[in-house]
Amino acid sequence: MATVVSPTATRVLNSSLARKIMSAGEAAALINSGDQIGMSGFTGSGYPKVVPIELAHRIADAHFHGQKFQVSVFTGASTGPELDGALAIAGGIHLRLPYQSDPETRKRINAGEMDYMDIHLSHVAQFVEYGFLGKLNVALIEVAAVLEDGRLVPSSSIGNNNTWIDQADHVILEVNSWQPAALEGMHDIYYGLQPPPNRGPIPLLHPGQRIGTPYLEVPAEKVVAIVLTDSPDRNSAFRPPDAASRLIAGHILEFLSWEVQKGRMPANLLPLQSGVGNIANAVLFGLEEGPFQDLTSYTEVIQDGMIRLLKSGKVTSASATAFSLSPAMLTEVNADMASYRSRIVLRPQEISNHPEIIRRLGVIAMNGMIEADIYGNVNSTHVMGSRIQNGIGGSGDFARNGYLSIFMAPSTAQQGTISTIVPMVSHVDHTEHDVQVIVTEHGLADLRGLSPRQRAHLIIEKCSNPDYKPLLLDYLNRSERLSFGKHTPHLLTESLGWHNRYLQTGRMWPQDAATATGRELKIVRSA
Ligand code: COA
Repeated sequence: MATVVSPTATRVLNSSLARKIMSAGEAAALINSGDQIGMSGFTGSGYPKVVPIELAHRIADAHFHGQKFQVSVFTGASTGPELDGALAIAGGIHLRLPYQSDPETRKRINAGEMDYMDIHLSHVAQFVEYGFLGKLNVALIEVAAVLEDGRLVPSSSIGNNNTWIDQADHVILEVNSWQPAALEGMHDIYYGLQPPPNRGPIPLLHPGQRIGTPYLEVPAEKVVAIVLTDSPDRNSAFRPPDAASRLIAGHILEFLSWEVQKGRMPANLLPLQSGVGNIANAVLFGLEEGPFQDLTSYTEVIQDGMIRLLKSGKVTSASATAFSLSPAMLTEVNADMASYRSRIVLRPQEISNHPEIIRRLGVIAMNGMIEADIYGNVNSTHVMGSRIQNGIGGSGDFARNGYLSIFMAPSTAQQGTISTIVPMVSHVDHTEHDVQVIVTEHGLADLRGLSPRQRAHLIIEKCSNPDYKPLLLDYLNRSERLSFGKHTPHLLTESLGWHNRYLQTGRMWPQDAATATGRELKIVRSA
């Protein structure tokens, strides 16, 4: 690498760009109502932290004076309270995409006050590039440094930053000195993707391979403001793995060992993808105690569990687009970033989640879910069919294109009042065609090669909670007898009744099916 950023020196080394340094308030004043803004940020890392707050103040002020002021916010994925939270509270977001997990944003989306487009993460950059989402006015990007020659050292996530910079009319940079200088060299920005019909193959054959440059490129004349910051990424702690997640991890490890024994996978498996959330993180913890060595990972986020696998040497190289670490792990990793530089590659999300590469590498996709139905359709995003939780994120990119597609969840949610295995999912993110394995703490259903009815019996048998198993079997047996078609038997007026029952009574099991002793169920309706 030509230039190494000193941890102590100024982070803006290019003198003509240094002349554009201004306050966050002055930079926010360059944003207009109606603008579409491409912001950095992915799972709480690398998002701009001061300009969005100033923008929220401006918006609140405009609203106070009776003026309309809203912007559309495009990011990599979720950000933090200084961005999503502040702008949502100010009522400043007209349209949000492609992913969020902020409580304030979620509240407004579910109240119908904010429009949200939940998009496959691999699609976002190309949708903007192809013009499907209209003009991008501003790119607001956090970076770790500006080099002498004007190139940018990305920070703790890349997301869609290269696309935002290419596509936007103007660029505002937040240069965050809290980000470790040792991040320089960890990134790999691939600038070789042409739009169809001129798109060629992406020359990536191994998770740890580098095919681009460590730096973001920006035409100097596009940069309208540089704001200096020194602020930490959002830090959300993971729940320590509980008994259910440990059991889920155990089932997956046993299954993967079986796949190796059957000769369907090498002894060091295939590149692992692990989704967001507590269960996904717990599975990585499980792998630490498992028998596998020399693992690789081609995934979206580097969570605590992945760092532990890298530290123990179980994982030799990991590719992602962002870090997503707990506060304790973040401190540890930031202090030792240089040692991870040769083992972690951060890429644009268009590449980390690209179907072509996921299919070529044979990625093992492991993602959390809200619920699955007895036929293997999966809902990753909606509670009771209408309330968004987070978004589909990259789960669809990996599930459809992976070598194996695994979905996992505890068998019940909300203190057992909800079964996560249901007759029919209340919202479909992943169809039965994209789901090969379902896992709960009770067991693992390997759906490969099975017809819908075979799948239904297996999922109920292996994955459902004992409190709900008799009800699910009762539903399936009656459907098999009475359904209009017998290929995917359903009783349509009843299939979604489970969710309605929860909405009306606060629990999924019917009153007449339960004896009053705890949650013990006795089916009164005969099969
Ligand atoms: N019905 C109602 N609520 C449910 C539910 C169900 N079937 N399943 C889960 N929930 C609720 C939980 O009770 C919890 O609510 P709370 O916040 O009030 O406690 C909340 O949803 C989150 O569930 P949790 O058990 O903490 O799950 P998690 O942290 O493992 O995350 C997903 C699970 C599905 C929300 C998460 O994996 C996700 O957002 N996935 C979609 C995106 C994705 O897969 N990205 C990865 C691509 S790389």
